[in-house]
Amino acid sequence: MTEPTELTGPNTHAQALAKANDELQSLRAELEETNRGVVALYAELDAQAEQLRKATELKSRFLAYMSHEFRAPVNSIRSIARLLADRVDGPLTDEQARQVQFIQTTATEFAEMVDDLLDLAKIEAGRIDISPAWFEMVDLFSALRGMFRPVLTNPDLTLVFEEPEGLPRLYTDDRKLSQILRNFISNALKFTSHGEVRVSAQGEADDRVRFTVADTGIGIAPQFHGAVFDDFSQVDSPVQKRLRGTGLGLSLSRQLATLLGGTVAVESELGKGSRFSVVIPVQLPDTAPAAGTE
Ligand SMILES: Nc1ncnc2c1ncn2[C@@H]1O[C@H](COP(=O)(O)OP(=O)(O)OP(=O)(O)O)[C@@H](O)[C@H]1O
Ligand SMILES: [Mg+2]
Repeated sequence: MTEPTELTGPNTHAQALAKANDELQSLRAELEETNRGVVALYAELDAQAEQLRKATELKSRFLAYMSHEFRAPVNSIRSIARLLADRVDGPLTDEQARQVQFIQTTATEFAEMVDDLLDLAKIEAGRIDISPAWFEMVDLFSALRGMFRPVLTNPDLTLVFEEPEGLPRLYTDDRKLSQILRNFISNALKFTSHGEVRVSAQGEADDRVRFTVADTGIGIAPQFHGAVFDDFSQVDSPVQKRLRGTGLGLSLSRQLATLLGGTVAVESELGKGSRFSVVIPVQLPDTAPAAGTE
């Protein structure tokens, strides 16, 4: 009874082998096909990445040219409005003075927007220079206080700068840091009708400093927290619509913070207020000079 098995044995074996071989062949063919597909996909991905890079470059260049070209006309509008407001060419009626004032404010807002766009374009093109220097936080805060004093016209709102105590001197680009804080503060003032806007600085672990701008304003609903730092992102609510600018301030702030080796964050509760913060290293990485040299 064992013979048939022995007889059919090699036959079945050969058949199985042939079958396995067939399977292997078709598997190999399938694999080759998949491989070709992957290679094609890679090539496509490369092409798309290249396209994206070109598009980004074009966008940055367009932004840079456009905002640069806008500067001259905006500046001439501003200087003509200033001449009118100063009554260089004769007196103005109250209504005319009001209108000229309106031209001045709008032109200033426009000039700020153009500057923001130009900065964003420069950062994206990698053409923004970081010039770090040693400075004291007290000086930074007092410069900011001076800048905001003229615009604080709401008697129900106070702007407080906490005395930065026991904090080391910073070695970073103070103008970029100041630009970030200016954006935070002007937003806080814009979206707070009463209460206070408080600016403070605290030392953090790993030789970092956290600057916080806290307000008692309208707050931001949780679903918008992730997006407020994106380009042109603005919260969709009636109050925000009435007060909105271009939506570039925070995205610019985030990019500037990255340049300084730091990060930005927001905590906020609708109706209660918001806390915007930026954490940066006490000394700008890579460029930090040896201790003692300045
Ligand atoms: N302190 C805040 N309280 C409430 N909402 C805020 C606050 N700061 C920012 N936001 C929301 O985040 C959005 C984005 O802020 P961002 O500064 O980028 O733009 P903007 O102030 O509208 O315009 P820009 O700063 O370009 O003039 C704002 O439009 C607002 O909806
Ligand atoms: Mg803003």
